[in-house]
Amino acid sequence: MTFAMPEPTHSTLRAEGFPAGFVLGAATSAAQIEGAAHEDGRGPSIWDRFCAEPGRIIDASNVDVACDHYHRYPEDVALMKWLGLKAYRFSLAWPRVQPLGRGAWNDKGFGFYDRLVDSLLEAGIQPHATLYHWDLPAALQDEMLGWQSRQIVPLFADYAAEVARRLGDRLGSIATLNEPWCVATLGHETAQFAPGITSRKAAAQVSHHLLLAHGVAVDAMRSVTKTPLGIVLNHTPSFPASPTEADRRAARLDDGLNVRWYMDPIFMGAYPADVLAHLGADAPRIEDGDLARIGRPLDFLGVNFYTRSLISAHPPAPRAPGLQGFTDMGWEVVPEVLTGHLLRLAREYAPPPMVITENGMANADRVVDGEIDDAPRTDYLRKHLLAVQRAMALGADVRGYFYWSLLDNFEWNSGYAKRFGLVHVDYASQQRRPKASAYWYRDFIAQHAKAHVGG
Ligand code: FCB
Repeated sequence: MTFAMPEPTHSTLRAEGFPAGFVLGAATSAAQIEGAAHEDGRGPSIWDRFCAEPGRIIDASNVDVACDHYHRYPEDVALMKWLGLKAYRFSLAWPRVQPLGRGAWNDKGFGFYDRLVDSLLEAGIQPHATLYHWDLPAALQDEMLGWQSRQIVPLFADYAAEVARRLGDRLGSIATLNEPWCVATLGHETAQFAPGITSRKAAAQVSHHLLLAHGVAVDAMRSVTKTPLGIVLNHTPSFPASPTEADRRAARLDDGLNVRWYMDPIFMGAYPADVLAHLGADAPRIEDGDLARIGRPLDFLGVNFYTRSLISAHPPAPRAPGLQGFTDMGWEVVPEVLTGHLLRLAREYAPPPMVITENGMANADRVVDGEIDDAPRTDYLRKHLLAVQRAMALGADVRGYFYWSLLDNFEWNSGYAKRFGLVHVDYASQQRRPKASAYWYRDFIAQHAKAHVGG
Protein backbone atom coordinates (compact mmCIF):
# COMPACT_ATOMS: atom_id res chain seq x y z
CA MET A 1 0.00 0.00 0.00
CA THR A 2 1.33 3.43 -0.76
CA PHE A 3 0.92 6.35 1.54
CA ALA A 4 -0.53 9.45 -0.10
CA MET A 5 1.71 12.44 0.42
CA PRO A 6 -0.30 15.61 -0.09
CA GLU A 7 1.64 18.78 -0.79
CA PRO A 8 2.76 20.51 2.39
CA THR A 9 0.41 23.35 3.25
CA HIS A 10 3.28 25.76 3.64
CA SER A 11 6.90 25.84 2.67
CA THR A 12 8.35 28.43 4.99
CA LEU A 13 8.65 28.32 8.73
CA ARG A 14 6.17 30.41 10.67
CA ALA A 15 6.04 30.45 14.46
CA GLU A 16 2.24 30.65 14.32
CA GLY A 17 2.32 27.42 12.32
CA PHE A 18 2.65 25.60 15.64
CA PRO A 19 -0.59 25.33 17.61
CA ALA A 20 -1.07 27.19 20.89
CA GLY A 21 -0.08 24.40 23.25
CA PHE A 22 2.98 23.34 21.26
CA VAL A 23 5.94 23.16 23.60
CA LEU A 24 9.21 24.80 22.55
CA GLY A 25 12.04 23.89 24.87
CA ALA A 26 15.62 22.74 25.24
CA ALA A 27 17.24 19.66 26.75
CA THR A 28 20.29 18.58 28.76
CA SER A 29 21.31 15.57 30.85
CA ALA A 30 22.76 15.20 34.33
CA ALA A 31 26.17 13.70 33.58
CA GLN A 32 26.77 16.17 30.76
CA ILE A 33 26.23 19.37 32.76
CA GLU A 34 25.96 18.91 36.52
CA GLY A 35 29.53 18.35 37.70
CA ALA A 36 29.69 18.14 41.52
CA ALA A 37 30.50 14.50 40.95
CA HIS A 38 31.79 13.93 44.47
CA GLU A 39 29.53 16.26 46.40
CA ASP A 40 26.63 15.89 48.80
CA GLY A 41 26.79 12.11 48.80
CA ARG A 42 26.53 11.41 45.07
CA GLY A 43 27.72 7.87 44.38
CA PRO A 44 30.10 7.09 41.52
CA SER A 45 28.57 6.37 38.13
CA ILE A 46 29.76 4.16 35.31
CA TRP A 47 30.66 7.31 33.37
CA ASP A 48 33.00 8.49 36.16
CA ARG A 49 34.75 5.13 35.81
CA PHE A 50 34.73 5.12 32.02
CA CYS A 51 36.29 8.60 31.87
CA ALA A 52 39.09 7.43 34.17
CA GLU A 53 40.07 4.65 31.72
CA PRO A 54 42.85 5.84 29.39
CA GLY A 55 41.85 6.29 25.77
CA ARG A 56 38.08 6.25 26.27
CA ILE A 57 37.41 10.00 25.94
CA ILE A 58 38.95 11.87 23.03
CA ASP A 59 40.24 14.79 25.11
CA ALA A 60 40.84 12.68 28.25
CA SER A 61 38.28 14.80 30.09
CA ASN A 62 35.71 13.76 32.68
CA VAL A 63 32.41 14.80 34.25
CA ASP A 64 33.76 16.04 37.61
CA VAL A 65 32.94 19.69 36.89
CA ALA A 66 31.26 19.75 33.44
CA CYS A 67 29.18 22.96 33.32
CA ASP A 68 29.03 23.15 37.11
CA HIS A 69 25.27 23.30 36.73
CA TYR A 70 24.81 21.76 40.20
CA HIS A 71 26.00 25.07 41.63
CA ARG A 72 25.04 27.40 38.80
CA TYR A 73 21.50 26.20 38.16
CA PRO A 74 19.95 29.55 39.23
CA GLU A 75 21.93 31.28 36.48
CA ASP A 76 20.97 28.55 34.00
CA VAL A 77 17.29 28.81 34.87
CA ALA A 78 17.58 32.59 34.42
CA LEU A 79 19.05 31.96 30.95
CA MET A 80 16.12 29.68 30.11
CA LYS A 81 13.72 32.36 31.26
CA TRP A 82 15.52 34.92 29.10
CA LEU A 83 15.17 32.50 26.17
CA GLY A 84 11.44 32.25 26.90
CA LEU A 85 11.57 28.44 27.00
CA LYS A 86 8.20 26.88 27.68
CA ALA A 87 9.81 23.69 28.87
CA TYR A 88 13.13 22.19 29.92
CA ARG A 89 14.09 18.54 29.64
CA PHE A 90 16.71 17.38 32.15
CA SER A 91 17.69 14.05 33.66
CA LEU A 92 18.20 12.91 37.21
CA ALA A 93 21.48 11.25 38.10
CA TRP A 94 20.42 7.98 39.70
CA PRO A 95 23.65 7.83 41.80
CA ARG A 96 22.94 11.32 43.14
CA VAL A 97 19.60 10.33 44.63
CA GLN A 98 20.42 6.69 45.44
CA PRO A 99 24.21 6.39 45.62
CA LEU A 100 24.34 2.59 45.43
CA GLY A 101 21.39 2.11 43.09
CA ARG A 102 19.57 0.28 45.84
CA GLY A 103 18.81 0.96 49.49
CA ALA A 104 19.15 4.40 51.06
CA TRP A 105 17.91 7.54 49.31
CA ASN A 106 20.15 10.58 49.40
CA ASP A 107 18.02 13.50 50.54
CA LYS A 108 20.71 16.01 49.62
CA GLY A 109 20.64 14.71 46.07
CA PHE A 110 16.86 14.92 45.90
CA GLY A 111 17.18 18.39 47.43
CA PHE A 112 19.01 19.56 44.32
CA TYR A 113 16.23 18.37 41.98
CA ASP A 114 13.62 19.88 44.31
CA ARG A 115 15.29 23.26 44.05
CA LEU A 116 15.79 22.95 40.30
CA VAL A 117 12.16 21.99 39.67
CA ASP A 118 10.85 24.74 41.94
CA SER A 119 12.98 27.40 40.27
CA LEU A 120 11.83 26.24 36.84
CA LEU A 121 8.19 26.45 37.90
CA GLU A 122 8.76 29.85 39.40
CA ALA A 123 10.25 30.97 36.06
CA GLY A 124 7.17 29.65 34.22
CA ILE A 125 9.09 26.75 32.64
CA GLN A 126 7.63 23.21 32.63
CA PRO A 127 10.16 20.66 33.93
CA HIS A 128 10.33 17.37 31.98
CA ALA A 129 12.41 14.68 33.67
CA THR A 130 14.25 11.68 32.27
CA LEU A 131 15.15 8.96 34.76
CA TYR A 132 18.03 7.28 32.99
CA HIS A 133 20.37 9.21 30.74
CA TRP A 134 23.24 6.72 31.01
CA ASP A 135 24.85 7.43 34.40
CA LEU A 136 24.23 4.12 36.15
CA PRO A 137 25.36 3.83 39.78
CA ALA A 138 28.76 2.11 39.50
CA ALA A 139 27.82 -0.15 42.42
CA LEU A 140 25.21 -1.87 40.24
CA GLN A 141 27.81 -2.50 37.54
CA ASP A 142 30.13 -4.06 40.15
CA GLU A 143 27.48 -6.11 41.86
CA MET A 144 25.47 -7.48 38.96
CA LEU A 145 27.02 -6.24 35.69
CA GLY A 146 24.41 -3.50 35.57
CA TRP A 147 21.87 -3.87 32.78
CA GLN A 148 23.17 -7.34 31.92
CA SER A 149 21.36 -8.66 34.96
CA ARG A 150 17.62 -9.07 35.23
CA GLN A 151 17.90 -8.13 38.90
CA ILE A 152 18.20 -4.51 37.85
CA VAL A 153 14.58 -4.39 36.70
CA PRO A 154 12.88 -4.05 40.13
CA LEU A 155 15.67 -1.72 41.31
CA PHE A 156 15.01 0.66 38.43
CA ALA A 157 11.27 0.51 39.13
CA ASP A 158 11.88 1.41 42.80
CA TYR A 159 13.99 4.37 41.75
CA ALA A 160 11.34 5.46 39.24
CA ALA A 161 8.54 5.25 41.82
CA GLU A 162 10.55 7.25 44.35
CA VAL A 163 11.20 10.04 41.84
CA ALA A 164 7.54 10.00 40.83
CA ARG A 165 6.48 10.19 44.47
CA ARG A 166 8.79 13.07 45.34
CA LEU A 167 8.62 15.15 42.15
CA GLY A 168 5.86 13.70 39.97
CA ASP A 169 3.16 16.27 40.58
CA ARG A 170 5.49 19.12 39.69
CA LEU A 171 6.72 17.60 36.43
CA GLY A 172 5.32 18.08 32.94
CA SER A 173 6.29 14.48 32.11
CA ILE A 174 8.61 11.66 33.05
CA ALA A 175 10.54 9.60 30.51
CA THR A 176 11.96 6.33 31.75
CA LEU A 177 14.98 5.86 29.49
CA ASN A 178 16.98 7.99 27.12
CA GLU A 179 18.04 6.13 23.96
CA PRO A 180 18.21 2.50 25.07
CA TRP A 181 19.87 1.63 21.75
CA CYS A 182 22.91 3.70 22.77
CA VAL A 183 23.05 2.04 26.20
CA ALA A 184 22.86 -1.44 24.71
CA THR A 185 24.85 -1.11 21.50
CA LEU A 186 27.36 1.67 22.16
CA GLY A 187 27.78 0.64 25.80
CA HIS A 188 27.92 -3.15 25.40
CA GLU A 189 28.73 -4.03 21.80
CA THR A 190 31.02 -1.35 20.35
CA ALA A 191 32.38 -0.09 23.70
CA GLN A 192 32.26 3.55 22.62
CA PHE A 193 30.23 4.38 25.74
CA ALA A 194 30.26 3.21 29.35
CA PRO A 195 30.55 0.52 30.56
CA GLY A 196 32.73 -0.21 27.52
CA ILE A 197 31.88 -3.85 26.81
CA THR A 198 32.27 -5.62 23.46
CA SER A 199 29.72 -8.42 23.29
CA ARG A 200 26.76 -8.55 20.93
CA LYS A 201 25.13 -11.13 23.17
CA ALA A 202 25.46 -8.90 26.23
CA ALA A 203 24.11 -5.94 24.25
CA ALA A 204 21.02 -7.87 23.17
CA GLN A 205 20.31 -9.00 26.72
CA VAL A 206 20.84 -5.45 27.98
CA SER A 207 18.35 -4.09 25.44
CA HIS A 208 15.73 -6.54 26.71
CA HIS A 209 16.35 -5.65 30.36
CA LEU A 210 16.15 -1.96 29.52
CA LEU A 211 12.79 -2.41 27.82
CA LEU A 212 11.50 -4.57 30.64
CA ALA A 213 12.69 -2.07 33.25
CA HIS A 214 10.94 0.66 31.27
CA GLY A 215 7.60 -1.17 31.32
CA VAL A 216 7.81 -2.20 34.97
CA ALA A 217 8.81 1.35 35.95
CA VAL A 218 5.83 2.77 34.06
CA ASP A 219 3.51 0.54 36.10
CA ALA A 220 5.25 1.46 39.34
CA MET A 221 4.95 5.18 38.57
CA ARG A 222 1.30 5.00 37.49
CA SER A 223 0.34 4.02 41.00
CA VAL A 224 1.89 7.18 42.49
CA THR A 225 1.53 9.95 39.91
CA LYS A 226 -0.76 11.22 37.18
CA THR A 227 2.13 12.83 35.30
CA PRO A 228 2.36 11.77 31.63
CA LEU A 229 4.82 8.92 31.17
CA GLY A 230 6.85 7.88 28.14
CA ILE A 231 10.20 6.80 26.74
CA VAL A 232 12.80 8.55 24.58
CA LEU A 233 14.19 6.66 21.58
CA ASN A 234 16.93 7.72 19.19
CA HIS A 235 15.98 7.29 15.58
CA THR A 236 18.56 7.50 12.83
CA PRO A 237 16.64 6.29 9.77
CA SER A 238 18.57 3.81 7.63
CA PHE A 239 18.83 4.36 3.90
CA PRO A 240 20.34 1.95 1.35
CA ALA A 241 23.62 3.35 0.03
CA SER A 242 22.60 2.22 -3.47
CA PRO A 243 19.35 0.94 -4.96
CA THR A 244 20.63 -2.66 -5.12
CA GLU A 245 18.61 -5.40 -3.47
CA ALA A 246 21.55 -6.26 -1.19
CA ASP A 247 21.84 -2.68 0.11
CA ARG A 248 18.08 -2.44 0.56
CA ARG A 249 18.11 -5.59 2.63
CA ALA A 250 21.03 -4.34 4.72
CA ALA A 251 19.22 -1.05 5.35
CA ARG A 252 16.08 -2.90 6.38
CA LEU A 253 18.06 -4.94 8.91
CA ASP A 254 19.76 -1.82 10.24
CA ASP A 255 16.32 -0.25 10.67
CA GLY A 256 15.33 -3.40 12.54
CA LEU A 257 18.25 -3.11 14.91
CA ASN A 258 17.79 0.60 15.59
CA VAL A 259 14.14 1.45 15.22
CA ARG A 260 11.95 -1.67 15.15
CA TRP A 261 13.82 -3.53 17.92
CA TYR A 262 12.57 -0.86 20.37
CA MET A 263 9.34 0.32 18.72
CA ASP A 264 7.86 -3.12 18.00
CA PRO A 265 7.90 -4.56 21.54
CA ILE A 266 6.63 -1.29 23.00
CA PHE A 267 3.86 -0.67 20.48
CA MET A 268 3.21 -4.02 18.77
CA GLY A 269 3.94 -6.55 21.50
CA ALA A 270 6.71 -8.48 19.73
CA TYR A 271 10.37 -8.26 18.76
CA PRO A 272 10.90 -8.09 14.98
CA ALA A 273 11.36 -11.62 13.60
CA ASP A 274 14.07 -10.64 11.10
CA VAL A 275 16.24 -9.18 13.87
CA LEU A 276 15.69 -12.19 16.14
CA ALA A 277 16.79 -14.43 13.26
CA HIS A 278 19.81 -12.21 12.60
CA LEU A 279 20.88 -12.36 16.27
CA GLY A 280 20.51 -16.15 16.36
CA ALA A 281 22.19 -17.52 19.49
CA ASP A 282 22.86 -13.93 20.67
CA ALA A 283 19.14 -13.17 20.94
CA PRO A 284 18.12 -12.26 24.49
CA ARG A 285 16.52 -14.61 27.00
CA ILE A 286 12.90 -13.52 27.22
CA GLU A 287 10.58 -14.88 29.90
CA ASP A 288 6.85 -15.47 29.69
CA GLY A 289 4.94 -12.29 30.26
CA ASP A 290 7.90 -9.98 29.49
CA LEU A 291 6.39 -8.58 26.30
CA ALA A 292 3.15 -7.72 28.05
CA ARG A 293 5.17 -5.88 30.70
CA ILE A 294 7.17 -3.99 28.07
CA GLY A 295 4.15 -2.85 26.10
CA ARG A 296 2.46 -0.77 28.78
CA PRO A 297 0.38 2.11 27.41
CA LEU A 298 2.32 5.36 27.23
CA ASP A 299 1.27 9.01 27.19
CA PHE A 300 3.98 10.14 24.81
CA LEU A 301 6.80 8.92 22.63
CA GLY A 302 9.99 10.96 22.69
CA VAL A 303 11.95 10.93 19.44
CA ASN A 304 15.56 12.10 19.26
CA PHE A 305 16.55 12.90 15.71
CA TYR A 306 19.88 14.14 14.37
CA THR A 307 20.65 12.53 11.02
CA ARG A 308 20.27 9.39 8.89
CA SER A 309 22.61 6.49 8.11
CA LEU A 310 23.56 5.19 4.70
CA ILE A 311 23.83 1.42 4.79
CA SER A 312 25.75 -0.80 2.43
CA ALA A 313 25.75 -4.60 2.30
CA HIS A 314 29.51 -4.31 1.94
CA PRO A 315 30.63 -1.67 4.44
CA PRO A 316 31.95 0.90 4.64
CA ALA A 317 29.10 2.77 2.98
CA PRO A 318 30.15 5.60 0.67
CA ARG A 319 30.21 9.08 2.15
CA ALA A 320 26.76 10.64 2.27
CA PRO A 321 26.06 13.34 -0.33
CA GLY A 322 25.59 16.02 2.34
CA LEU A 323 23.66 18.35 0.05
CA GLN A 324 22.78 20.48 3.06
CA GLY A 325 26.10 20.01 4.77
CA PHE A 326 27.46 18.10 7.75
CA THR A 327 27.67 19.02 11.41
CA ASP A 328 30.88 19.13 13.46
CA MET A 329 30.13 15.51 14.45
CA GLY A 330 30.30 14.67 10.73
CA TRP A 331 26.55 14.00 10.74
CA GLU A 332 24.72 14.72 7.50
CA VAL A 333 22.06 17.45 7.74
CA VAL A 334 18.82 15.94 6.39
CA PRO A 335 15.75 17.69 7.85
CA GLU A 336 13.36 16.19 5.27
CA VAL A 337 14.20 12.76 6.70
CA LEU A 338 12.64 13.88 9.98
CA THR A 339 9.36 14.69 8.22
CA GLY A 340 9.28 11.33 6.49
CA HIS A 341 10.21 9.47 9.64
CA LEU A 342 7.55 11.07 11.83
CA LEU A 343 4.95 10.18 9.18
CA ARG A 344 6.22 6.63 9.06
CA LEU A 345 5.98 6.27 12.84
CA ALA A 346 2.44 7.66 12.78
CA ARG A 347 1.46 5.28 9.98
CA GLU A 348 3.12 2.08 11.19
CA TYR A 349 2.70 2.33 14.94
CA ALA A 350 -0.15 4.76 15.71
CA PRO A 351 1.93 5.88 18.70
CA PRO A 352 0.75 8.20 21.47
CA PRO A 353 1.50 11.91 20.86
CA MET A 354 5.11 12.37 19.83
CA VAL A 355 7.60 14.91 21.13
CA ILE A 356 10.95 15.73 19.55
CA THR A 357 12.93 15.31 22.76
CA GLU A 358 16.28 16.08 21.10
CA ASN A 359 17.43 17.65 17.86
CA GLY A 360 20.43 19.86 17.34
CA MET A 361 23.90 20.21 15.92
CA ALA A 362 27.49 20.43 16.98
CA ASN A 363 29.20 23.39 15.38
CA ALA A 364 32.80 24.55 15.60
CA ASP A 365 31.76 27.75 17.37
CA ARG A 366 34.25 30.50 18.06
CA VAL A 367 33.91 33.51 20.31
CA VAL A 368 34.80 36.65 18.39
CA ASP A 369 34.66 39.93 20.31
CA GLY A 370 32.44 38.27 22.88
CA GLU A 371 29.95 37.04 20.29
CA ILE A 372 29.26 33.66 18.71
CA ASP A 373 27.92 33.76 15.20
CA ASP A 374 26.66 30.20 14.76
CA ALA A 375 24.66 30.71 11.58
CA PRO A 376 24.76 26.99 10.64
CA ARG A 377 23.00 26.13 13.92
CA THR A 378 20.21 28.67 13.33
CA ASP A 379 19.80 27.24 9.87
CA TYR A 380 19.64 23.68 11.26
CA LEU A 381 17.09 24.73 13.84
CA ARG A 382 14.84 26.50 11.32
CA LYS A 383 14.95 23.61 8.89
CA HIS A 384 14.10 21.02 11.53
CA LEU A 385 11.30 23.09 13.02
CA LEU A 386 9.89 23.39 9.52
CA ALA A 387 10.32 19.63 9.03
CA VAL A 388 8.22 19.09 12.17
CA GLN A 389 5.55 21.52 10.95
CA ARG A 390 5.37 19.66 7.66
CA ALA A 391 4.96 16.32 9.39
CA MET A 392 2.20 17.82 11.54
CA ALA A 393 0.47 19.31 8.49
CA LEU A 394 0.51 15.83 6.96
CA GLY A 395 -1.04 14.22 10.02
CA ALA A 396 1.69 13.36 12.54
CA ASP A 397 0.67 14.22 16.10
CA VAL A 398 3.70 16.08 17.48
CA ARG A 399 3.28 18.13 20.63
CA GLY A 400 6.69 19.61 21.32
CA TYR A 401 10.28 20.23 20.29
CA PHE A 402 13.33 20.35 22.55
CA TYR A 403 16.57 21.68 21.10
CA TRP A 404 19.70 19.72 22.12
CA SER A 405 21.25 21.34 23.97
CA LEU A 406 20.68 24.36 26.17
CA LEU A 407 24.41 24.55 26.98
CA ASP A 408 27.62 23.33 25.42
CA ASN A 409 28.47 20.30 27.50
CA PHE A 410 30.29 16.98 27.91
CA GLU A 411 29.60 15.13 24.67
CA TRP A 412 30.33 11.62 25.97
CA ASN A 413 33.34 10.03 24.28
CA SER A 414 33.94 13.29 22.36
CA GLY A 415 34.58 15.07 25.66
CA TYR A 416 34.20 18.84 25.56
CA ALA A 417 35.37 19.12 21.95
CA LYS A 418 31.91 19.20 20.39
CA ARG A 419 29.61 22.13 21.07
CA PHE A 420 25.84 21.61 20.73
CA GLY A 421 24.64 24.50 22.90
CA LEU A 422 22.41 27.47 22.22
CA VAL A 423 24.54 28.95 24.95
CA HIS A 424 28.34 28.88 24.79
CA VAL A 425 30.22 27.72 27.87
CA ASP A 426 33.80 28.81 28.51
CA TYR A 427 34.91 25.83 30.58
CA ALA A 428 37.82 27.68 32.20
CA SER A 429 35.69 30.49 33.62
CA GLN A 430 32.25 28.81 33.38
CA GLN A 431 31.02 31.95 31.66
CA ARG A 432 27.80 31.44 29.66
CA ARG A 433 27.22 33.42 26.46
CA PRO A 434 24.08 33.06 24.34
CA LYS A 435 25.01 32.34 20.72
CA ALA A 436 23.28 34.00 17.76
CA SER A 437 21.07 30.88 17.52
CA ALA A 438 19.83 31.53 21.06
CA TYR A 439 18.70 35.02 20.04
CA TRP A 440 16.97 33.55 17.00
CA TYR A 441 15.20 30.83 19.03
CA ARG A 442 14.19 33.41 21.62
CA ASP A 443 12.50 35.54 18.92
CA PHE A 444 10.83 32.49 17.44
CA ILE A 445 9.41 31.41 20.80
CA ALA A 446 8.24 34.96 21.48
CA GLN A 447 6.49 35.12 18.09
CA HIS A 448 4.80 31.82 18.80
CA ALA A 449 3.60 33.06 22.17
CA LYS A 450 2.39 36.34 20.66
CA ALA A 451 0.47 34.58 17.90
CA HIS A 452 -1.49 32.62 20.47
CA VAL A 453 -2.11 35.24 23.12
CA GLY A 454 -5.42 34.51 24.73
CA GLY A 455 -5.79 31.38 22.62
C1 FCB B 1 22.17 11.95 22.00
C2 FCB B 1 22.24 11.96 23.50
C3 FCB B 1 22.60 13.29 24.10
C4 FCB B 1 23.62 14.03 23.27
C5 FCB B 1 23.24 14.04 21.82
C6 FCB B 1 24.21 14.78 20.92
O1 FCB B 1 22.43 10.66 21.54
O2 FCB B 1 21.00 11.58 24.06
O3 FCB B 1 23.01 13.07 25.41
O4 FCB B 1 24.87 13.52 23.50
O5 FCB B 1 23.10 12.74 21.34
